Amino acid sequence: MGKTCRVSTLCVLCVILALVSIATIVTLWTLALTDHGDVTAPWDSPIIFVLVLLSYRLSMDVIPEYYNITLWPRLSPDPNNGLYIFTGQSTVQFECVKETNLILIHSSQLSYTRQDNKHMASVTTAGTIKVLIQKSTWLQPETQYLVINLKSKLRQGQKYQLYTEFTGELADDLSGFYRSEYEEDGLQKMVATSQMHPTYARKTFPCFDEPALKAIFHITLIHPPGTVALSNGMERDIANITIDGVSWTKTKFEPTKKMSTYLLAIIVSDYTYINTTQKDPQVILCIRIWARRKAIDLGQGNYALNVTGPILDFFQSYYNIAYPLTKSDQIALPDFYYGAMENWGLVTYRETNLLYDPETSSSRNKEKTATIIAHELAHMWFGNLVTLRWWNEVWLNEGFASYVAYLGADHAEPTWNVRDLIVLDEIHKVFAVDALTSSHPLSSNEDSIVLPNQISEQFDVISYSKGAAVLRMLSDVLSEPVFIQGLSVCFCIFLLAVKEYNGSLPHSVDRIMSPWVLQMGFPVVTINTAIGKVSQKHFLLDADSNVTVKSPYNYEWLIPIRWIRGGTVQKDIWWLMEKEVINLEMRSDGFWVLANINVTGYYRVNYDLGNWERLFTQLNTNHKVIPVINRAQLVDDAFIFH
Ligand SMILES: *[C@@H]1O[C@H](CO)[C@@H](O)[C@H](O)[C@H]1NC(C)=O
Ligand SMILES: *[C@@H]1O[C@H](CO)[C@@H](O)[C@H](O)[C@H]1NC(C)=O
Ligand SMILES: *[C@@H]1O[C@H](CO)[C@@H](O)[C@H](O)[C@H]1NC(C)=O
Ligand SMILES: *[C@@H]1O[C@H](CO)[C@@H](O)[C@H](O)[C@H]1NC(C)=O
Ligand SMILES: *[C@@H]1O[C@H](CO)[C@@H](O)[C@H](O)[C@H]1NC(C)=O
Ligand SMILES: *[C@@H]1O[C@H](CO)[C@@H](O)[C@H](O)[C@H]1NC(C)=O
Ligand SMILES: *[C@@H]1O[C@H](CO)[C@@H](O)[C@H](O)[C@H]1NC(C)=O
Ligand SMILES: [Zn+2]
Repeated sequence: MGKTCRVSTLCVLCVILALVSIATIVTLWTLALTDHGDVTAPWDSPIIFVLVLLSYRLSMDVIPEYYNITLWPRLSPDPNNGLYIFTGQSTVQFECVKETNLILIHSSQLSYTRQDNKHMASVTTAGTIKVLIQKSTWLQPETQYLVINLKSKLRQGQKYQLYTEFTGELADDLSGFYRSEYEEDGLQKMVATSQMHPTYARKTFPCFDEPALKAIFHITLIHPPGTVALSNGMERDIANITIDGVSWTKTKFEPTKKMSTYLLAIIVSDYTYINTTQKDPQVILCIRIWARRKAIDLGQGNYALNVTGPILDFFQSYYNIAYPLTKSDQIALPDFYYGAMENWGLVTYRETNLLYDPETSSSRNKEKTATIIAHELAHMWFGNLVTLRWWNEVWLNEGFASYVAYLGADHAEPTWNVRDLIVLDEIHKVFAVDALTSSHPLSSNEDSIVLPNQISEQFDVISYSKGAAVLRMLSDVLSEPVFIQGLSVCFCIFLLAVKEYNGSLPHSVDRIMSPWVLQMGFPVVTINTAIGKVSQKHFLLDADSNVTVKSPYNYEWLIPIRWIRGGTVQKDIWWLMEKEVINLEMRSDGFWVLANINVTGYYRVNYDLGNWERLFTQLNTNHKVIPVINRAQLVDDAFIFH
């Protein structure tokens, strides 16, 4: 009986809630109508109002197929208002998959030229000249949409084309299509470049700006004669044209692969390049490094050119998939927001991350260059060829690239032991942040990430460094071949492929990974070697701070422990699966015990005082018995615990 009662109460609550929501929406809608002061206000029904103003996600009624885009940046300011601008034309062909008379397409900070003095866009049925009549068309700045409300419905299965002409500002704001200035030989020079990731493609042309809505892009750039234009595809036709008596160069690019809008790149500059050709059995791959003429002349691009080929080779065999494109451009920009951006086929970098000067740069700079290049090139497969559906799983994309960057760089520079540096540069770095009560889990709920600034917030040290640490741990417990098999057997649904795998594991991969992915923080494992007691506890930098966020796993983890006892490396992983347990094998009996070999596990380790002292004695007599990574771990843990 109790059950029925609960259900009916729930029902009543739901109905009340629904009624309240409808009432609120209708009220808001009426207010909006009154605000506009006339009944022909854009939204003619509460449903349109909800779709346009309250929903930041596209409704997937229409799916893009390809875009034809021509962009024309002006590299000198408009004499009238001093603004730098670009103009453009775009046709996007899309398919209607669900009947609708409302087209929502992202658009931000663009102004449109009216077609036939009427609407900001024109819509035709593909393959015909049949123009669809629009009821109203307007821009909705809050949700960043261009909204087209049609008189009649689009038909399911039919393809349509949407044509626009628009103008945007080529501002120095590091987002969308923007300008970057620098001085060379006493001259002020300019690069028109782009940063579409994560949501700025809509600032360059109207587009369905969500990662899952992949399309083919046919790009054309108009630019001053003597400058070079670059994009994701290889330059195909370069011609000089005259517009209003002034000559310009028009560069048309090879169509891209089917890809997400955020991976698009367009650049106009007077840069130069160095190049090399990589011959695979099937394809000839053209590798180019672009930079300011001065930097190229000084040989600052040579190191990047030297390592790119070997790194691409490494990833082709690691993923067991050929490099998906026929060219690889990498370019150094004077003004760039991120460290680098993995645009497919045209990777952009901050100058310091791509250029290396043998005369003046440090070895640390050289090592950073190799790992950042490897990180970006890893994305050419994981991230670009295979793309996550939505931004809540950013950690998988960035964590993966951050982890395999060390493997790629290690292949290019086998004498550096660069794999060891992941412990200092990622794991210990993120330990500091993830030990605070203000941290957050790797994975978020899809519905909680909708606004552009919520999307940007996903790109933090947790996604990159904890993501890398946790995937490295998974690779270690599965063994590298099984981890890679998970990639190559079923690349498109990585992790799903190994999710059910348990091999020699005590649980499925899914069960083991969930506490690491779905709750914030990490454990400290405490080993009392006097009695063999092993326990775990959520590690907090400030022991007095209180965790207010509940976790489905109560801040307990399934912890893989690789360990050494008295110089003998134990063969198998021992799993700590309870809060506290006795493992008699971990009693010292006069030997020292060291856990978490090479810090492959994402946790700290503390010991009883006697064991710390035995470890110090060992370090003082023959420190080489303890692996180098664990020597760093011991120093760090000792500072944290004492
Ligand atoms: C788009 O560009 C491609 C390649 O240039 C061309 O074949 C196609 O006809 C164009 N489509 C439209 C609608 O302009
Ligand atoms: C276009 O003009 C530039 C500068 O005048 C010249 O260097 C270039 O060779 C021309 N390109 C073509 C394809 O005619
Ligand atoms: C570099 O590019 C130029 C122009 O495309 C080409 O002629 C040359 O063979 C390339 N050099 C190498 C080493 O690939
Ligand atoms: C790049 O490789 C060449 C050929 O192996 C070598 O001579 C040169 O020193 C390398 N440049 C850098 C900056 O490492
Ligand atoms: C391992 O996987 C098999 C098949 O999926 C399953 O039957 C078995 O119970 C699993 N073992 C553990 C310990 O989860
Ligand atoms: C944590 O909670 C305890 C007990 O409620 C309280 O005494 C303590 O001040 C709290 N610590 C912080 C940092 O708020
Ligand atoms: C630990 O890392 C070192 C490299 O720093 C490597 O030589 C060694 O094999 C690793 N030990 C284990 C048990 O994986
Ligand atoms: Zn990345």
